[in-house]
Amino acid sequence: MRMVDMIEKKRDGHELTKEEIAFVIKGYTDGTIPDYQMSAFQMAVYFQGMTAEETAEFTMAMVESGDQVDLSAIEGVKVDKHSTGGVGDTTTLVLAPLVAALDIPVAKMSGRGLGHTGGTLDKLEAVPGFHVEITEKEFFDLVNKNKIAVIGQSGNLTPADKKIYGLRDVTATVNSIPLIASSIMSKKIAAGSDAIVLDVKVGAGAFMKDLPMARDLAKAMVEIGNKVGRQTMAIISDMNQPLGYAIGNALEVKEAVETLQGKGPEDLHELCLTLGSYMVRLAGKAETTEEARKMLEEVIENGKALEVFKLFLQSQGGDTSVIDDMTKLPTARFQIEVPAKEAGYVSQITADEIGTAAMILGAGRATKESEIDLAVGLVLHKKIGDQVEVGESIVTIHSNTEDVESVKEKIYHAYEMSTSKVGPATLIHDEIT
Ligand code: URA
Ligand code: CA
Repeated sequence: MRMVDMIEKKRDGHELTKEEIAFVIKGYTDGTIPDYQMSAFQMAVYFQGMTAEETAEFTMAMVESGDQVDLSAIEGVKVDKHSTGGVGDTTTLVLAPLVAALDIPVAKMSGRGLGHTGGTLDKLEAVPGFHVEITEKEFFDLVNKNKIAVIGQSGNLTPADKKIYGLRDVTATVNSIPLIASSIMSKKIAAGSDAIVLDVKVGAGAFMKDLPMARDLAKAMVEIGNKVGRQTMAIISDMNQPLGYAIGNALEVKEAVETLQGKGPEDLHELCLTLGSYMVRLAGKAETTEEARKMLEEVIENGKALEVFKLFLQSQGGDTSVIDDMTKLPTARFQIEVPAKEAGYVSQITADEIGTAAMILGAGRATKESEIDLAVGLVLHKKIGDQVEVGESIVTIHSNTEDVESVKEKIYHAYEMSTSKVGPATLIHDEIT
């Protein structure tokens, strides 16, 4: 086989075979196919697309390019959740103990975050003593015993995707549905779960700016999952404003605990129940989403979900007294209010600008080497539809320095106000099953 023929075939809109796709991925990963040919190939895919069959083969070829996690030592159906990236997205912290409380195994391999706030690992480290340096055997044992554990990511998962994603970034070929769908799904499939629930974000500040494109991406990913034997469902949720009120590591732990206690922000609670219901269904613990939802509401009300969260933290060295008394969580030295400059109704809060504001404070990493400050971040007081008076605080900045001018500027820029009444935002735009 020759790469030039693969490029030509795709350029002319024909369907590649499984063997041809495997040739392209393998050759590019091992370096026998150079960047310039792969660049041309990706541009051909960008314009011609790929069939569902090709997209699934492309995904599996990337999965097979590296290690695959074997979770067979864990009893039960392993359901994973993936979000395409939100700001202040605290759902994992809530969902993991929530579904584990229903005896669904949560075997989380998690990485460090880059960008707005830390990843799930960083957030959990706001609990003193908590660590993820456990052996694989300890990890499996903990999941079998407590139904929940988190381990740091190890192994060489989907090297093909790493290399291809890097190339797409500099060849203007990121925005292709089959390439995005296969990239995300290859990582999820290599991570070893039996079933996958996807949360595709749409809106200003999300990767997908409009609903038709978000829907196409969700459908493409669900199709890949189902074709390769991993049952997959997706929802499309709103990112025209950050989820919940808290953005920042310790602040989000606090918000997650409040949500597990049934006193969290309405939108975070609702999104967790929606995603959780699908996870419960895919795990085979409920017939319908309604039934699953009732089960989840029950473990919030009877305190089991919070108990599981504490047991999980404790089993990995965490001091859970900070959960009983959250004033003991890392706290920033200064709390600075951001007063509204104009009156009106909030119409949009550009999520990635709010995320950048949190990153400037130190809540996230600008580069892989940056140290993050677990205590800092933002707490929003006004969300879409809320009425605001001049001088009223819209956000509290939690900072370890007093100079927060550039942070304030980002916040003012993120908030869009309307003089006429604005209705509340729609949270769930669609569900694809
Ligand atoms: N996120 C990914 O992991 N891959 C893409 O291609 C786009 C977003
Ligand atoms: Ca939040």
